[in-house]
Amino acid sequence: MGAEPFTAIVLEEKDGTVTSKITTLDDGALPDGDVTVQVAYSTLNFKDGLILKGLGRLVRNYPHIPGIDFCGTVLASASPDYQPGDQVICTGWRVGEARWGGYATRTRVEAGWLVPLPKGLTLEQSMAIGTAGFTAMLAVMALEEHGLAPVNEGEVLVTGAAGGVGSIATAILGHLGYRVAASTGRTETHAYLKDLGAASIIGRAELEQAPKGPMASERWSGIIDNVGGAALGNILAALAYWGSCAAVGNAGGIKFTATVLPFLLRGINLLGIDSNTCPKARRLVAWDRLSRDLPLDKLDKMTSKVPLAEAPGMAGAILKGQVRGRTVIDVNG
Ligand SMILES: NC(=O)c1ccc[n+]([C@@H]2O[C@H](COP(=O)([O-])OP(=O)(O)OC[C@H]3O[C@@H](n4cnc5c(N)ncnc54)[C@H](OP(=O)(O)O)[C@@H]3O)[C@@H](O)[C@H]2O)c1
Repeated sequence: MGAEPFTAIVLEEKDGTVTSKITTLDDGALPDGDVTVQVAYSTLNFKDGLILKGLGRLVRNYPHIPGIDFCGTVLASASPDYQPGDQVICTGWRVGEARWGGYATRTRVEAGWLVPLPKGLTLEQSMAIGTAGFTAMLAVMALEEHGLAPVNEGEVLVTGAAGGVGSIATAILGHLGYRVAASTGRTETHAYLKDLGAASIIGRAELEQAPKGPMASERWSGIIDNVGGAALGNILAALAYWGSCAAVGNAGGIKFTATVLPFLLRGINLLGIDSNTCPKARRLVAWDRLSRDLPLDKLDKMTSKVPLAEAPGMAGAILKGQVRGRTVIDVNG
C-alpha cells in the first residue's frame, strides 16, 4: 500500500507571503486518520483560491497541502465503513484548510468525513460537482424545505450565476422546472447561462441599486445568493411572501444592510448554508439528489479540467470572478 512516494502541491509561508511548489513525499508524512485514499481528482473552489493565496487566515500551519475536495479509491482502511477499492468523495470538514487536502496523489482522512461515490456518477463528475455543487444542492434542498416548488409564481434568483455554485444551482433548478433568473456581472456568460437552464438574465449592477423604500415589489419566489454584500439587502426586499433566500456566499462582500420589514410583513426567511459541517445523513441525501437532479450534459458543458501544476496559477482568477463554471484538478495529470 502506497510504498511509492506521492506527489503534492505544498504551500510554504514566509513573512506573510505564501508560495507553492510541487514535491514528492513519503507516507510517513501523511496526517493521522483511518482511511488512506489514492486521489483521482480534486477541484478549484473560491475557498481554494483564498487558501492558495494565503488569505482569510484559513490556514494556520505550514507546510500545508491545499485542496478542499478530493475523490479517489481507498488504499487502506482501519474503519469498517470502507474497504480497499471503494470509491469515495471528501468535501468540507476543513480538509485542505485545517487539515491536508486533495492537491496530492495520496491523502489520509477520518472515515466519517467521506461519502461513497453515488451510483450514476464517475469520480471525475463527482469533482466537477465538488464543494460548489454540493453546496448548490444543499441550498436547493433548504429552499424546498421552506416551501419552494416549481408551481410557485415568480422566478428563483441565482446570484453569481456564472461561478461554480451559481452554474450548478442554475442547472439543477432549471432541470427541476423552476424559472431561473441568473444574475451575472459578465455579459459574455449570458448564452452559457441560458444553455444551463436560465429563463432570464439579470445584470449584477441592477441588483446593486437599492429600492426606493424598505420594501420592493414581490419579484423572487426564492433566492440562492452567492454574493452577499450590498445586493443581499436589496434582493431580500423583493422576495415574495413566505419566500426564502439561501445565503451561500460572500464573493461580493461580507456586510449587508437590510430592514426587518420584509421579515415581518412578508414572512420571508434568510437560510444559512454551511456545507463544511453538514451532517453525514444530509450529505448522503444531497449526493443522491445530485446524481439524479443535475443533468450531466450541463455539468460537462460547465466544467474544465487542468493538471495539478496549473491549480496555483488559477487562484487569482477565481478570486476575481474570472473563472466560469467548474474546474476539475487532475492530480495525476
Ligand atoms: N456556505 C458554504 O458552505 C459555501 C460553499 C461553497 C462556496 N461558498 C461561497 O460561495 C461563493 C461562490 O463560490 P464559488 O466556488 O462558486 O466561487 P466562484 O466560482 O468564484 O463564483 C463566484 C461568482 O460570484 C460573482 N462575483 C465575483 N466577484 C463578485 C463581486 N465583487 N461582486 C458581485 N459578484 C461577484 C461572479 O459571478 P458572475 O460573473 O456571474 O457575476 C463569480 O463567478 C463564494 O463566496 C464561496 O466562498 C460557500
